[in-house]
Amino acid sequence: MYKTHTCGEIRKSHAGETVMLAGWVNRRRDHGDLIFIDLRDRWGLVQLVADPEASPEAHAALGQVRNEWVIQVEGTVNERPADMVNPNLDTGEIEVEVHMVKVLNKSETPPFLINKEDEVDENVRLKYRYLDLRTPRMQKNITLRHRVVKFIRDYLDGQGFLEVETPILFKTTPEGARDYLVPSRVHPGMVYALPQSPQQLKQMLMVAGVEKYFQIARCFRDEDQRGDRQPEFTQLDLEMSFVERFDVMGLIEGMYTQMVQTLTPHKTILQTPWPRLKYTEAMERFGKDNPDIRFGLELVDISDLAKDSGFGVFAGAVESGGHVRGINAKGLGGYSRKQIDALTDYVRQFGAKGLAYILFTPEGELRSPITKFFSEETLESIKTRMDAEDGDLLLFVADKPEVVFDSLGRLRVHLAEELGLLDPDLLGFCWVIDFPFAFWNEDERRWDPSHHLFTSPLPEDIPLIDSAPEKMRGAQYDLVLNNNEVAGGSIRIHDQELQAKVFTLIGLDPDVAAERFGHMLEAFQYGAPPHGGIASGIDRLVMLLADEDNIREVIAFPKNQNARDVMADAPTPAEPQQLKELHIKLDLPEEKEKK
Ligand code: AMO
Ligand code: AMP
Repeated sequence: MYKTHTCGEIRKSHAGETVMLAGWVNRRRDHGDLIFIDLRDRWGLVQLVADPEASPEAHAALGQVRNEWVIQVEGTVNERPADMVNPNLDTGEIEVEVHMVKVLNKSETPPFLINKEDEVDENVRLKYRYLDLRTPRMQKNITLRHRVVKFIRDYLDGQGFLEVETPILFKTTPEGARDYLVPSRVHPGMVYALPQSPQQLKQMLMVAGVEKYFQIARCFRDEDQRGDRQPEFTQLDLEMSFVERFDVMGLIEGMYTQMVQTLTPHKTILQTPWPRLKYTEAMERFGKDNPDIRFGLELVDISDLAKDSGFGVFAGAVESGGHVRGINAKGLGGYSRKQIDALTDYVRQFGAKGLAYILFTPEGELRSPITKFFSEETLESIKTRMDAEDGDLLLFVADKPEVVFDSLGRLRVHLAEELGLLDPDLLGFCWVIDFPFAFWNEDERRWDPSHHLFTSPLPEDIPLIDSAPEKMRGAQYDLVLNNNEVAGGSIRIHDQELQAKVFTLIGLDPDVAAERFGHMLEAFQYGAPPHGGIASGIDRLVMLLADEDNIREVIAFPKNQNARDVMADAPTPAEPQQLKELHIKLDLPEEKEKK
């Protein structure tokens, strides 16, 4: 036996007991006579002390140990004198006076301090992830992640769901990214695709009569990396038979509300029931389909006023089918020209050609490069519509709708950051519904589904499929939390005829559809029940609950921004023998060959 107790659990009530502990040396303080060690295990820290008189051997041994050495000790729990109590430590009222010390393993000096919250270069952290994971921050994050997943499993079990594993070696399941492929040795020239999600399989499970399925599922998507994306990530994937969209949404809402109350009670859900925004409303008010509803700064349409404003840029944009929209950055009327220029540069990144402004200084002065074009009346109308008063800064973009929404939608969040309005303890859950079923792809002259191929139009819109597909809304729903899409799902098509029509609408050749999804289409001939589901990004959810701003912080062994595992150094070149067995010849780009 190595330990009778964990380091973190010892309290005053243990005083007088003999305990055996094992863990890592977190910190050593040599006070001449007395040596103090903070011993760490997953459950916390405890102070060890050795008295040279009483236990000379133990004292000498503690004198030798260094940070991150692994030791085992035996000693007596003593209450600390009142003036030595450390209120910042759970075990701060006691210390363990050791009489036996055994070094279980030594450690090299770690490349960064584990006992301090220092800024360490992320690549170094990732290379030595096993050390990084020892830090309190990462221990907290992986513990929270465990709790979240356990909560989900228990909750769904209680609701009659079955967790079913689905294959990783499978066939392409498109979710809009590139597939990761695995060449088959036994079938030369053929590949498996790693699932971008278990979408097809969970629908097959509905045909199979499972009725309520879930899985904590690993998904693989070869796409550009960002802070909220990883090539492999985890979904809570679920599917239910005999449901309508509000049933699925209600299940998630109930589960996540209870989860927040249980696991992160210091956080407050902004609004219950969670608001349901129609896609068009989300765009008009927030410029995004993943709106952050924790703060105002909403977009205001002034296209009608801008049309006849006399300002060419505004009028021109409206004439050519664009919009002019603005944001009242309340309280930023003190902004300097330079600060406004910085905001202009910010929106330019997203295609805006400029950022017009009207600034009302707190003293009642007006500054603007555009009001000279406006009549008194136009200016008054803009002020009224945008609820402007002294001390406000009105910011406008005139452009194609996509550019106006994207640039102002991002500017809104950027301003909220500058104004300190992003409270991480406030959880602004909201649903976005009634997405357009498909978007017109002008380049390829066809309709692109706004969700995946199996999503149904809203039942009342199905008759529009031949006459007015642009008016069809999808039975799709996204869950948004503080500017992040944390879940998405839909009611599926269970009727073969409708599925065939949708394939035709989006220009998917029936032969190609049969080759890719023939198994599914066939299965659907055998009594597929009405069904729908959702998938929620566990990494993103835990990131937000852990107050991190990058999903790598809540994944034990993530890839870096270049999709590399820098700890194991993967990917690596395949051995010639492996390639031969797989019947693969390489045709590498030139730079790589030189390497
Ligand atoms: P979707 O593609 O919207 O839907 O994915 C669901 C959720 O998964 C998370 N997510 C990611 N998280 C980290 N890294 C990524 N690269 C990544 N991509 C997606 C997001 C997202 O909301 N099969 C459908 C669901 C369904 O229809 O039931 C699907 O996968 O939080
Ligand atoms: P200009 O007449 O080009 O000097 O622009 C006058 C103001 O309008 C400047 O503040 C520009 O940043 C702004 N502006 C120019 N183009 C646009 C646009 N498309 N949308 C919003 N503001 C613009």
